Amino acid sequence: MTTTLKRMKKFRSQLVYEFIISHYIPGKVADIGGGKGLLSYLLNQSGWDSTVIDPVYQPLPTKYTNLDKKKIKIDGDATVPHITSPFEKEMGKDFDLLIGLHSHGSNLRIVDAAAEYHKEFILLPCCIINEGIDPYSVTDWLEYIEEYANKKGIMTQREKLNFKGQRTAIYSIS
Ligand SMILES: C[S@@+](CC[C@H](N)C(=O)[O-])C[C@H]1O[C@@H](n2cnc3c(N)ncnc32)[C@H](O)[C@@H]1O
Repeated sequence: MTTTLKRMKKFRSQLVYEFIISHYIPGKVADIGGGKGLLSYLLNQSGWDSTVIDPVYQPLPTKYTNLDKKKIKIDGDATVPHITSPFEKEMGKDFDLLIGLHSHGSNLRIVDAAAEYHKEFILLPCCIINEGIDPYSVTDWLEYIEEYANKKGIMTQREKLNFKGQRTAIYSIS
């Protein structure tokens, strides 16, 4: 992998993909709030089984830039599995790893699912939208999520990825 120390702007999915394949064995992934599905596409190209769960269906991009700065075309016929609805805790039981990359309305539900069904999760939370809590009552969203997980018996770690924007990953450790 070729990365520079300069923080990369448009490589969120590519860097999370690298994080996943270097930390986990291939399995069933729920890419919650996955948007256009680039992360799922990259995982599925590498033999994983990743499904986007997002209430808004968005087609895959037609191309992306890899970490070596090469433009890669995505076949016009390519798709990723898609569940077109908001994430509910019960959906988590069908997957090994639950990912929320800048996902909305689902971070706490992902932790609930991980606790209930003994699944692993990776969250890169951004804003507090439709989480079922008053956003003004939260002073530090990342700490809030960590404490929420810890109270459910899940230990977590943090890792900062090398892209611009909210780039701290909180992930469960068993
Ligand atoms: C900021 S985008 C992130 C998209 C993508 N993960 C990325 O990093 O580019 C937030 C996504 O969360 C989705 N979303 C909103 N409410 C949701 C919910 N309740 N469950 C799952 N996804 C949700 C939106 O439709 C949107 O695609």
